[in-house]
Amino acid sequence: MRKACVIGWPITHSRSPMIHGYWLKSHGIDGSYEKVAVQPENARAFLLGLEAGGFSGCNVTVPLKEIAFEAAQEKEASAIAVGAANTIWLEGGKICAANTDTYGFMTHLGKTVPDWQERDRPVLVLGAGGAARAIVYGFIESGVGQVLVANRTRARAEALSQHFGRKVKVVDWGARSEAARDAGVIVNTTTIGMKNEGSLDMDFRNAADSTVVADIVYVPLETEMLAVARKRGLRTVDGLGMLLHQAVPGFEKWFGVRPEVTGELRAMIVADLEKAA
Ligand code: ATR
Repeated sequence: MRKACVIGWPITHSRSPMIHGYWLKSHGIDGSYEKVAVQPENARAFLLGLEAGGFSGCNVTVPLKEIAFEAAQEKEASAIAVGAANTIWLEGGKICAANTDTYGFMTHLGKTVPDWQERDRPVLVLGAGGAARAIVYGFIESGVGQVLVANRTRARAEALSQHFGRKVKVVDWGARSEAARDAGVIVNTTTIGMKNEGSLDMDFRNAADSTVVADIVYVPLETEMLAVARKRGLRTVDGLGMLLHQAVPGFEKWFGVRPEVTGELRAMIVADLEKAA
């Protein structure tokens, strides 16, 4: 039996076991995927002991993604660009790492709004944490000419701009609605709006009709920012799709089958989110 898991601290709220459990069942695979609470000081040792523990690999969540990146011996470009790993597998006895948040976000965006890239306009990213890094990298890899980053703490946005180079430009947090006017895609990567806490206070009145507004927050599924955008008639992209799609590459590495993000899987997670609300 093949085994994988998700590690984090705490780990109670992770939906990854539901996602991978659904795929294990639908593909009839003799495998398991469990949650393991691992304290930061034990994370490195846990990863080094994956093979001995009979694991094919694991997902890594907050606050262990940077530790996992450091512990890995082989790192995919996605992990190197972000400086953090969320997916670990073993190859020839080596710990290999990827950051599939980029893949998850870009895949969901592409499936929801296939023509998002047709207009040659800048992308506006709100936030400058780890998630922002993964998403900025995705846009640059997709050939976007300019990514604007607005963050409450400007220094973090500047660090991100320095990391990715001249295509990433910092805009003031206070100027985010103004920057939204010219943006083709706007993405919230901050925690604002999670569980309906806080407001991004985005004003889309002057945004072009073709603007796409995405959020990585998925509790609630329709955040305040997405509701404002929808009422303005803009196309919206929710955060759940990123969560579902980021799980695909890991499952394939551990269990040897590339799974599908089906409507049934999505409905199952939506029902669980509603139950928890
Ligand atoms: P992650 O790695 O998941 O992206 P993070 O590194 O903690 O998480 O980043 C959280 C992001 O949400 C940051 O951009 C943070 O802004 P700061 O860099 O200024 O802390 C942003 N954020 C969280 N709460 C916020 C708030 N009340 N107002 C504005 N930005 C907020």
